[in-house]
Amino acid sequence: MRDVIVVTMSDHVQTERSGAVVTIRMARPEKKNALTVEMYRGMTVALSDARHDPGVRAILIAGAGGAFTSGNDLRDFAATPPVDENSPVFQFLREISTCPKPVVAAVTGVAVGIGTTMLLHCDLVVADPEARFSLPFINLGLVPEAASSLLLPRMLGHVRACELLLLGEVFDAATAERYGIINKRSAPGAAEPEALAWCEVLAAKAPTALRLTKRLIKSESTGLQVRMQEEAADFVAQLHGTEFREALMAFMEKRAPNFG
Ligand code: COA
Repeated sequence: MRDVIVVTMSDHVQTERSGAVVTIRMARPEKKNALTVEMYRGMTVALSDARHDPGVRAILIAGAGGAFTSGNDLRDFAATPPVDENSPVFQFLREISTCPKPVVAAVTGVAVGIGTTMLLHCDLVVADPEARFSLPFINLGLVPEAASSLLLPRMLGHVRACELLLLGEVFDAATAERYGIINKRSAPGAAEPEALAWCEVLAAKAPTALRLTKRLIKSESTGLQVRMQEEAADFVAQLHGTEFREALMAFMEKRAPNFG
């Protein structure tokens, strides 16, 4: 067992180093790790540091307190909404989607919104059998992000992508596995150790061959960044509109939204 070194720690994003593996942990458990602007910034910096550190061979993304993440913090969205594609959320998505090193995710509990769409940019995903996924953008008067509007139809076909993005319902880990959003369900409670074990296997591979192989696998994704820009424009417009305002009020008042 290697020693774990805590390299950096901000309030809500923790970065740990164990051998050649860096773990980036969303750590705001009292809010199910809902992501704030500061957290996106912290995760972008952690990913960038890992990308540029030649000693890092694999990156693990996990959550604290039994949740992966409940997605963007809705209050933070209202207080400091992204204004354009250079906003922290979109910078984070660019960083993770262009990371040349292998990124592995360990999903426990909830993976809402960006908690699910970021998985489309990870290379291996292990989820607890009780994990719950959802893409509730439509329920919030928003549109998909992270190029999920491009990747999900490609991965699942039109009708299944519509099921996830137009109905916005919660789906379980067995469905996520069947749809190819995750590789496997772990033994109960073992998502993180199983994901870490994969990271250690990856860290022992030839690093140049690994980087080249990942680049070749991703070479089909040329339209990705363009789609992210298109999504970002619609997302920002919706975020400033009446539909999201109603959804946010409904969330705060713990009621169903009324879109008229
Ligand atoms: N933004 C802001 N606060 C959030 C949040 C989010 N995305 N997700 C959870 N929270 C807060 C809750 O308001 C609650 O705060 P409180 O204790 O001050 O009331 C706390 O985190 C715990 O969440 P809770 O709802 O009690 O946990 P749960 O296990 O019953 O449900 C969720 C978890 C994730 C299913 C539920 O909180 C939820 O639907 N959140 C909104 C998810 C969302 O729409 N994300 C945006 C996607 S773009």
